Amino acid sequence: MTQKYDVVLFGATSFVGKIAAHYLAQRQDNSFTWAIAARSQQKLDALLNDLPESTRPNSIIADASDADSLNAMCEQAKVIISTVGPYALYGEPLIKACIASGADYVDLTGEPQWIKRMLDRHSEAATKAGVRLVNSCGFDSIPSDLGVYFLQQQAQEKYGQTCQRVAMRVHRIKGGASGGTIASMLNLLDEVKKEPSLRKVIGSPYALCPAGHELKAYQPTVKSAKFDQETNRWMAPFIMEAINSRIVHRSNALLDAKYGKRFVYGEAMLTGKGLGGAWRATTMALGLGGFMFAANIRVLRNILEQKWLPKPGEGPSPMEQQNGLFDIRFYGYTESGKRLVAKVTGDRDPGYGSTAKMLSEAAICLAQNEVVRKKPGGFYTPASVFDDALFTPLTTHAGLTFNVIG
Ligand SMILES: NC(=O)c1ccc[n+]([C@@H]2O[C@H](COP(=O)([O-])OP(=O)(O)OC[C@H]3O[C@@H](n4cnc5c(N)ncnc54)[C@H](OP(=O)(O)O)[C@@H]3O)[C@@H](O)[C@H]2O)c1
Repeated sequence: MTQKYDVVLFGATSFVGKIAAHYLAQRQDNSFTWAIAARSQQKLDALLNDLPESTRPNSIIADASDADSLNAMCEQAKVIISTVGPYALYGEPLIKACIASGADYVDLTGEPQWIKRMLDRHSEAATKAGVRLVNSCGFDSIPSDLGVYFLQQQAQEKYGQTCQRVAMRVHRIKGGASGGTIASMLNLLDEVKKEPSLRKVIGSPYALCPAGHELKAYQPTVKSAKFDQETNRWMAPFIMEAINSRIVHRSNALLDAKYGKRFVYGEAMLTGKGLGGAWRATTMALGLGGFMFAANIRVLRNILEQKWLPKPGEGPSPMEQQNGLFDIRFYGYTESGKRLVAKVTGDRDPGYGSTAKMLSEAAICLAQNEVVRKKPGGFYTPASVFDDALFTPLTTHAGLTFNVIG
């Protein structure tokens, strides 16, 4: 074919891929062209039957273990969306195929060890080929990454300087986890068990920053229940901090330390005031620790997998997605002590309903925005590739809001 699709959704039959396919179908207004791709024609047909007839896209068969099929798919696309995960298990052949065939790429990975491996192995080839690869375009890490970018822009406008310190606090979150997300988390634990030196690599807040970066501030992390002086509430560790903070620091490094070389960033989950807040923070922190402990012990892990955790392909119900939401706040301070607070919200469950919309908008923007398409090849974070370009699509179509509230 001579005309390429703007967007090809690979992994369209995954839990989050199906939601993205429905979103792209209803978002379709002839302003972009798209196709769906997966390894099973039967599952693709079932998905197509679920989509309104007038919106049904073409479908492509591709398998992550068959390089020829990946190349053939990538040659038909300006941008590939991938929801085939765990990325550490299935993702690398697609990165190679995108680079070989000149297709740009967006994904949903929250696996820092895999991003680091791909940066080390394929950055040079991506730059040479002029291919743009953008990791973490879902709830991890668009709201955190673009939330900080937005706050810093506002601080620059209002105070003539950026915030040296930003604390992200999750005020409200409603949603669940899918089998794919759980599988990615468990795979990360397995990799660390097999290769303990990985713990040190991904333990660094600057793990994903390019070599020679000049960021050097000490980064405190919330590891247990604590009282937050910032909000006068109790807080617990936020599980996504492990990926979001790495992405935010990588953005700062790729944006030539726009937020400052001594920029400090952390995330935590607010649990409320008084004894109730303290109790919830403690149980949440202990629950998270208990889960990590159990996931590392084979017998306990088997019980978790068989009885408690969602299997691949499973996740929150349509009702849970519809009733889900997130509300996160960014408390920023400039070096001279001036304060600015921004709020970012989403109107669906963060991990799936909202994630599918953010991912799709990131792909359409990467395929169509002329400024973004002029960026050189390489691996990017959302903020470093999109700058301002994604705010309007996210707020107009994807149900996100970005506001200064204090
Ligand atoms: N960043 C975020 O905010 C965020 C949010 C949600 C999910 N995620 C990530 O997104 C990924 C998908 O999650 P999910 O819950 O949707 O997963 P899932 O339902 O388990 O889907 C995994 C998909 O991978 C496909 N697959 C496996 N091996 C393949 C191969 N060799 N070739 C082609 N396709 C193959 C499967 O195909 P079949 O359909 O044929 O089985 C399935 O569609 C996970 O890595 C998860 O961690 C991230």
